[in-house]
Formats: sequence, C-alpha cells, structure tokens
Amino acid sequence: MLQEIERVLIGRDEIAERVGEIAERLAADLKRELEAEGSSEREHRVVLVPIMTGSIVFVADLIRRLPMKLSMGLVTVSSYAGETMESKGAHLRGDLPEGLEGKHVVLVDDILDSGNTLYLVRSLVQERSPASVRVVVLLDKKERRVMPIEPDYAGFEIPDEFVVGYGLDYNGYYRNLPDIATLNPDATAGAGSGGGGGAAV
Ligand code: IMP
Ligand code: MG
Repeated sequence: MLQEIERVLIGRDEIAERVGEIAERLAADLKRELEAEGSSEREHRVVLVPIMTGSIVFVADLIRRLPMKLSMGLVTVSSYAGETMESKGAHLRGDLPEGLEGKHVVLVDDILDSGNTLYLVRSLVQERSPASVRVVVLLDKKERRVMPIEPDYAGFEIPDEFVVGYGLDYNGYYRNLPDIATLNPDATAGAGSGGGGGAAV
C-alpha cells in the first residue's frame, strides 16, 4: 500500500457489495417505471450521466450490473475557488449530452459533498425536460451540505474527512486505489494554498 495512505475507511469488498445493492435497487426502480409507461425493453429510455472524473470507477462497476438498454453521456464539471479540498461552486465545462429530452436520466458521481456540483448538473438537466432525474452517489458527506440536494441512492454516509481512492482524487492522484482511504497529513500539507481552482472534480 502507498505510504501516503493513513487508513482504509471502506475496503474494496465492502464497496463491491454495496455497488451491487445500489444497482439492484436502481434497476428495479427503472424497470418498474418503464413498465408503468408501457416502454419495451428494446426502447432507449435510460441515459446515465457520470460526472467526470471522480465517477469513472464507480460508474464502470455500476453499469455492468444494470441489465437494461442504456446509453451514457459524460459531463465535466469544474470547481471554482483556489482551494484543493473545498468546493466553492461549480461550472460546466463543455456541453450537456444531447438527447436527454423525455429520457430517464441517472446522474452518477463519486461523492455528494457541498452539493454544488450535482445541484448545478441536475438543474441544467431538468431544463431539458427529461422524463425523470435520479441522483446516485457512492459517498454522502451529509454534514457538509450547502445546497438543497439529497441523493436518491447512496452507498455510504461518511464523516467530514477527505478521502481518496475508487475514483476519488487528491490533486489528481490516488484515483486508482481500489479502497477508499484517508491520506496522511503530510501528503496533503499545503492544501488550501491554491492550485485547485478549475480542477475537474
Ligand atoms: P460538491 O462539494 O458536492 O460539489 O463536491 C464536488 C466534488 O468534490 C466531488 O465530485 C468530488 O470530486 C470532490 N470531493 C468532495 N469531497 C471529496 C473527498 O473527500 N475526496 C475527494 N474528492 C472530494
Ligand atoms: Mg475530485
């Protein structure tokens, strides 16, 4: 294990199990909705919208457990503010995916923290008149919430601690760790003194 890792908060096996549970619930809810509206399994009704870059590992595991016709449209969101560990607002880089009108849209992110990111994306998606919008996150830092948004599906509620791994980064690193872990204080020394402005979340 990397020496910068302080401790593992959620191990890979626990993550895999929980991702399976979320996928099962999400698939069941979507199928129920499609049946209710009389859509056939062959119709393209579901669009997953992963928020780059933090959601890559989570969404890769999630989609392979969703046995239904779906497409994906990526969005990239940047955080404002000059601090690395704080999100003080968000803006979209590039455009929303095309063709969200009338679709069941599932927003996927690694973590719901202040809520700035998902609140922004959800508002923009809603302007496209989708049939429904759901929010799926692996981690939920409830106590940090600033914006009025809650996840429809969340893997784990975690305390206000900065974590990396399974897609989550610190300054662009550690996304490849299979577990979710905290970093040693010396690995994050100097955070808050700039450098994070405009970084993709
Ligand atoms: P927001 O504050 O809800 O807008 O969170 C935006 C982004 O901040 C998330 O998509 C993450 O990429 C990032 N983030 C929030 N908390 C953490 C953390 O503990 N570790 C790594 N990234 C985080
Ligand atoms: Mg990030």
